[in-house]
Amino acid sequence: MSNTIAPAKGKLGILTPGLGAVSTTFMAGVEAVKKGYGAPVGSLTQLGTVRLGKRTDNRTPLIKDFVPLASLNQLVFGGWDIFEDNAYESAVNANVLEADLLRKLKPNLQKIKPMKAVFDKNYVKRIDGPNVKTKGSLRDKAELLMEDMRTFKKANGCDRLVTIWCGSTEVFRRPAKVHQTLASFEKGLEKNDPDIAPSQVYAYASLMSGVPFANGAPNLTHDIPALLTLAKDRNVPVCGKDFKTGQTYMKTLLAPGLKARMLGCSGWFSTNILGNRDGEVLEDPGSFKTKEETKLSVLDQILQPNLYPDLYKDLYHAVRINYYPPRGDEKEGWDNIDIFGWLGYPMQIKIDFLCRDSILAAPLVLDLVLFLDLAQRAGMKGVQEWLSFYFKAPMTAPGLYPEHDIFIQLMKLKNTLRYMRGEELITHLGLEYYD
Ligand SMILES: NC(=O)c1ccc[n+]([C@@H]2O[C@H](COP(=O)([O-])OP(=O)(O)OC[C@H]3O[C@@H](n4cnc5c(N)ncnc54)[C@H](O)[C@@H]3O)[C@@H](O)[C@H]2O)c1
Repeated sequence: MSNTIAPAKGKLGILTPGLGAVSTTFMAGVEAVKKGYGAPVGSLTQLGTVRLGKRTDNRTPLIKDFVPLASLNQLVFGGWDIFEDNAYESAVNANVLEADLLRKLKPNLQKIKPMKAVFDKNYVKRIDGPNVKTKGSLRDKAELLMEDMRTFKKANGCDRLVTIWCGSTEVFRRPAKVHQTLASFEKGLEKNDPDIAPSQVYAYASLMSGVPFANGAPNLTHDIPALLTLAKDRNVPVCGKDFKTGQTYMKTLLAPGLKARMLGCSGWFSTNILGNRDGEVLEDPGSFKTKEETKLSVLDQILQPNLYPDLYKDLYHAVRINYYPPRGDEKEGWDNIDIFGWLGYPMQIKIDFLCRDSILAAPLVLDLVLFLDLAQRAGMKGVQEWLSFYFKAPMTAPGLYPEHDIFIQLMKLKNTLRYMRGEELITHLGLEYYD
């Protein structure tokens, strides 16, 4: 596969359905890094290295020097939102970054004005806004989104685009008949089928335009046969879903450690308070159910109670999220973990993570768009499982269980980069050092 990656020439346009806390923190953060106001902490593409060859070879380039990624100076931002606030106003409203920093970035951010959204109140119940496409069928709206993409690309002189859903969490839906084939999906668009979510209209428009698509939220979007077929047919890489940031990130650090040592776990109670718009949307039981599903699945997949019934079969796992306005974006997540050791003797672990949701999510957005663009230039299409590292509910091939262990995910990601560049994969066997 080496030498087949097209160079990252020209500008890369990043389009986000949803111009809220996460997307504006990402955009403002990139501008801040470019101006030297801060460092891209949390971003593997900007700070991470990859070991090549033997441990004794001393070859550990930065990832961004090893694979041809677009540089921060090549990025241009755009998006859609149901509110008319530009990225500066939205960032001020989100109250994640300091006012002083935002003022310095104002000239760049206020240029980013949201395009009119495709929205349906049945899918996000707690909010409503004026900046929406109102006329025509879902098919017409998809066409308008495609036109938005073409216009954006031309106006900004972009060579390529990537779309990443940073919109609110939509209500929980299971795949329906309309989602099964591209033909049924397109018919559904024409008939305004109520089973088609707005996020799916964006995904469809993006894939039809040959633009890679990622989903940062847990809702059912392009993880349906119709859109996965479209991604493959059009040679477009996709990934998702639900950024793995706060509490679930902690879970995927701890749970593999417990299992590695064959320590048992009888209960894991997780509760959160947060006061941003995301928290407000998650107050709706439909949106919370979507989130709960992805948050709950992680432990089961990591601990494998079917393989280790004595250790994990009776695990009681609960996740709660409470909207608590005073905290804004500064979420607090508590975990109480009941574990047991030798002869079943019980112990407890308590975690109190005072995190900042969008500060944790912004570097993931950056890495994902850069890696998806790389994947496209490398000719990779369909589900990019090597990007599971970033997600709570990683998309996989049908019938394949997702890998949630973050260290396995990281190994997979780095091996994929080595593979892309024709470098030897690293198995960590290491017998050669002892010959
Ligand atoms: N921050 C994190 O750590 C994290 C982690 C995992 C997932 N997420 C998910 O990322 C998403 C964004 O989070 P956030 O904190 O920025 O939320 P936010 O509420 O600040 O921003 C979401 C924006 O999407 C807009 N929106 C809703 N439906 C839309 C549509 N159909 N088209 C265009 N815009 C639409 C809303 O108006 C809002 O401005 C949420 O779904 C959240 O659950 C965030």
